[in-house]
Amino acid sequence: MLEVRNLTIEYENITTVRDISFTVDNGEVYSIIGKSGCGKSTILNAISGMIGRNGKITSGTISLSGNPIFENGKYTPYLKTVLGRELAAISQHPDSSFDPLFTIGNQMTEVMSVNERISKRDAKIKGMELLSRLHFSDPERVWDSYPHELSGGMCQRVAVAMALSNKATLLLADEPTSALDVTSQAEFIRQLKEIVENDDLAVLLVTHNMAVARALADRTGFLRNGELTESGGDIIAAAAG
Ligand SMILES: Nc1ncnc2c1ncn2[C@@H]1O[C@H](COP(=O)(O)OP(=O)(O)O)[C@@H](O)[C@H]1O
Ligand SMILES: [Mg+2]
Repeated sequence: MLEVRNLTIEYENITTVRDISFTVDNGEVYSIIGKSGCGKSTILNAISGMIGRNGKITSGTISLSGNPIFENGKYTPYLKTVLGRELAAISQHPDSSFDPLFTIGNQMTEVMSVNERISKRDAKIKGMELLSRLHFSDPERVWDSYPHELSGGMCQRVAVAMALSNKATLLLADEPTSALDVTSQAEFIRQLKEIVENDDLAVLLVTHNMAVARALADRTGFLRNGELTESGGDIIAAAAG
């Protein structure tokens, strides 16, 4: 699904991430654990081409489903064709996935229209179905809500529904639970896990929270001093070692 090879990223000539390699297989949750400031968001931003002006990928390749997104020192046109489609992202700030001026229904309809011609009526039917899958008891009310009317946990669940509405196969999740209270965290994790198990959705999860990684990840890597160490087995033991 996703293959990252020998990726090195600098900000203003200071190396943040050094020669890291990992893969995320179809339908798998791969988690990168690391302390705050160690480069987790940098990695996700590099994958989606949003590293910013003062950041630079100085070596390595990134490919999705066998097609290069980044190679020979630059992004390929393929990135544009997958962004917001196969490749979706949710951030640690629950409301930043949404435009505050439009209802959830408007935004989901717009997202669905990127891939296919769809009538408002069909978009709503599909939206209701997806929101129900994220266990909203009143999807109709969520559909008609503005982002500020939803809690952080609800926003994150809607963001997952939105990714699915556009047939995402890889979700980049940057500390998706860190702004949520403990109850909403557990709920979000349970529901994301259910989606991953039932759909062909792979997740690249970055977090500083070992419990979150443990609950969700099939495999885990540790990011320390810009270097990534993989762990196949017990992540607690690997973290201690
Ligand atoms: N746009 C930027 N310009 C300069 N330095 C940055 C920029 N973004 C991040 N950094 C630096 O890169 C390092 C990694 O940041 P980040 O990827 O946000 O870490 P994490 O997500 O693990 O908390 C930090 O030292 C941070 O200060
Ligand atoms: Mg971060």
